[in-house]
Amino acid sequence: MDKKVMNNCNLSTKYNDLSIIHSKKLRVDPANFKILSHCILVVIATMFAKEFTPEAHVALDKFLVALSLALAEKYR
Ligand code: HEM
Repeated sequence: MDKKVMNNCNLSTKYNDLSIIHSKKLRVDPANFKILSHCILVVIATMFAKEFTPEAHVALDKFLVALSLALAEKYR
């Protein structure tokens, strides 16, 4: 995955508005980002079992954690 995409600073900036929507407007409990991330991981693993190598697993997990962190930014 592109290093720029994996950089959490860039993700925070990119998803600033989306974080504000989820925290201030929708008031989604940030614990749900982790739950949804795991659901996405399981669905991708099931649908693309052959391509879902340990490396792909780690990369997707890392990306989803970074995305969840970026979305949780505006709760502070
Ligand atoms: C990977 C994490 C997530 C991403 C990337 C994401 C992305 C989005 C996007 C792009 C929108 C549309 C925002 C807009 O109106 O411009 C949205 C809306 C919404 N999200 Fe999320 N979301 C995530 C996690 C969650 C979670 C965990 C929940 C709740 C459990 C949630 C609840 C909602 C709700 C209720 C809306 C409004 C839907 C509507 O009425 O149109 N999101 N989300």
